Amino acid sequence: STTIYFSRHGQSIYNTKELIGGDSLLSAKGKKYAEGLRKFFQESQEKFDDLQKYCSTLKRTQQTIGYLSEVGAGEPIIRPEIDEINAGICDSMTYEQIEEKFPEEFKLRKKDKLNYRYPEGESYIDLKARLKPFLEEIEESQTPVLVISHQATLRCAYDHMKGLKTEEIPYIQVPLHSLVKFERSIFGYRETIYKYD
Ligand code: F6P
Repeated sequence: STTIYFSRHGQSIYNTKELIGGDSLLSAKGKKYAEGLRKFFQESQEKFDDLQKYCSTLKRTQQTIGYLSEVGAGEPIIRPEIDEINAGICDSMTYEQIEEKFPEEFKLRKKDKLNYRYPEGESYIDLKARLKPFLEEIEESQTPVLVISHQATLRCAYDHMKGLKTEEIPYIQVPLHSLVKFERSIFGYRETIYKYD
């Protein structure tokens, strides 16, 4: 598409407890952000009747996009390719708990976050490969696109859109409650960031 919007889901219950992964619902703050997103699209000068919405299989993205039922072209499309990085045996833990229970794993990830693969889970390199066909697909879309996804997946998406250095991917800033718009021009993509809180 010539216009692609990306956002993380609104703050989840797990985010408030600093737990990674899981499949929790939105916090009160997260719901407020989802309402903010709806207002953004409804109050914009642009028309979004043909906006194609995508979310992951996880509740926090579906709940966020649920607030946008009156915006865009019907039901969101649920895509497993945009699920958060699979943290395997470390899923549903805090980073402190991981360091305590799996100190070797914690060290290995710190040393090489890009290539480190969680046992029974994924690495950023795995994630980049998982996302590539989806990102190419939405770039070809005839309509504007909104993707509600997750921190690690959006790092890979921004790298794809901006052509950054692969080593930088795991450290790209993708804060909660910000919407990023990419508009294609003859010079490449123009990026605009809208921050909420
Ligand atoms: O903490 C939120 C979260 O989306 C986790 O679910 C995920 O494991 C993590 O961020 C990815 O970020 P990092 O690769 O920096 O641990």
